[in-house]
Amino acid sequence: MKLLLDEAKRVFRLDSIWTQHGPEHWQRVEKNAIMLAADTPGCDLEVARAFAILHDCRRRNEGRDPRHGARAAEFARQLYKRGMLPLEPERLALLMHAMSDHASGQVSGDPTIGVCWDADRLDLPRVGTRPLIKLMSTRAGKEHSRQV
Ligand SMILES: [Fe+2]
Repeated sequence: MKLLLDEAKRVFRLDSIWTQHGPEHWQRVEKNAIMLAADTPGCDLEVARAFAILHDCRRRNEGRDPRHGARAAEFARQLYKRGMLPLEPERLALLMHAMSDHASGQVSGDPTIGVCWDADRLDLPRVGTRPLIKLMSTRAGKEHSRQV
């Protein structure tokens, strides 16, 4: 993950001191993903950790940026082509799907995508928003959303 983190930081364009979507957020999301995956059978933890590190790294602003997930997915594909993301094609596809749709207000029945999205939403209190239980995909995410 260190390599991915370095690559994500290299392309990140927002102010590293003031950003709400930068490396500190990514690492909290990664911690959340590890915690949620432990209680979510079938979750691909490596994919969820890659999501945590990469999902916001191509943001162009701190507010509305509806294409940032798609740009992150494209960045993941480039890393894969350069041999920096050692996943099988179907796992890359899962990661790209999780990133493309992570900010569109959906829930997912897929355990890996669910952990990705829940891990991100559990860090919403950083921007003064409580995560909504109805927008949690996993049982573990619902439980933790009551505690933040
Ligand atoms: Fe995020």
